[in-house]
Amino acid sequence: MLKHVLFAALSLAVGVAHASEEAAAADPAKAKPLVDQMCGACHGPDGNSPVPVNPKLAGQFPEYIYKQLSNFKSKDGKPAERANPIMGGMAAGLSDQDMKNLAAYFGGQTLKPEQAKGDKESIDLGQKLWRGGDASRHLPACAGCHGPAGAGIPAQFPRLAGQYADYTEAQLKAFRNGDRANDPAQMMRVIASKMSDKEIKAVADYVAGLR
Ligand code: HEC
Ligand code: HEC
Repeated sequence: MLKHVLFAALSLAVGVAHASEEAAAADPAKAKPLVDQMCGACHGPDGNSPVPVNPKLAGQFPEYIYKQLSNFKSKDGKPAERANPIMGGMAAGLSDQDMKNLAAYFGGQTLKPEQAKGDKESIDLGQKLWRGGDASRHLPACAGCHGPAGAGIPAQFPRLAGQYADYTEAQLKAFRNGDRANDPAQMMRVIASKMSDKEIKAVADYVAGLR
């Protein structure tokens, strides 16, 4: 009898410990070994990636980082919502808690921003689209969703300010041709489909210099 009660108490305690682990808050410190072993090589140990093909993650909203990591993962045999061979491989082995911890870690780092590029004509075009869009084509201002200074609006609209222009340009083109299709309500696909190569480059160069 005593043995039985003890067993019941023990399994209750284990059950509680397990439940609290499942609901654990994001712990950036727990992400550090993964950052050192996997992510840091491409995104920088502090989320300031050393090369333009790999996006900077520092200072990004944790909710957005978490969403992207989940989207890179293929679930139930279905293709990933955001198809990318490199990041698909990275995300495959991450648990939900790993992704929360990593999102908190990179979100808590300080961004080292890029500089604006291009000539005056191009910067002016980028600024015009960023601030005002183009009403004649129903192209909304980027600032409306990503903030006047590109800081984003938590948690759905990512920060773009200071990102590598090459990465921003590549994402806009990927939205335009449908290679990236994980934007809610096709928001970015509709917008990018209205933009020329020149406009995409101009706005990407402009955004790199936003603070
Ligand atoms: C081999 C290089 C490499 C490694 C290692 C790597 N990444 Fe990436 N990561 C990339 C590339 C390239 C992209 C851009 C993918 C694209 O073009 O859509 C990316 C994109 C991302 C994004 C999307 C960012 C955005 O602004 O939408 C997140 C989040 C991310 N990586 C997190 C991680 C984490 C966390 C790890 C470690 C578990 C990791 N990455 C490891 C190369 C890498
Ligand atoms: C109606 C709201 C809205 C407007 C306007 C908008 N965006 Fe976005 N944008 C989003 C959302 C939402 C996402 C996140 C998609 C996701 O969850 O993967 C996003 C993502 C992006 C990304 C990917 C960021 C990354 O880190 O991978 C880029 C680049 C981008 N937007 C550029 C722009 C530019 C440039 C404009 C103006 C021409 C613009 N956006 C206007 C809603 C908007």
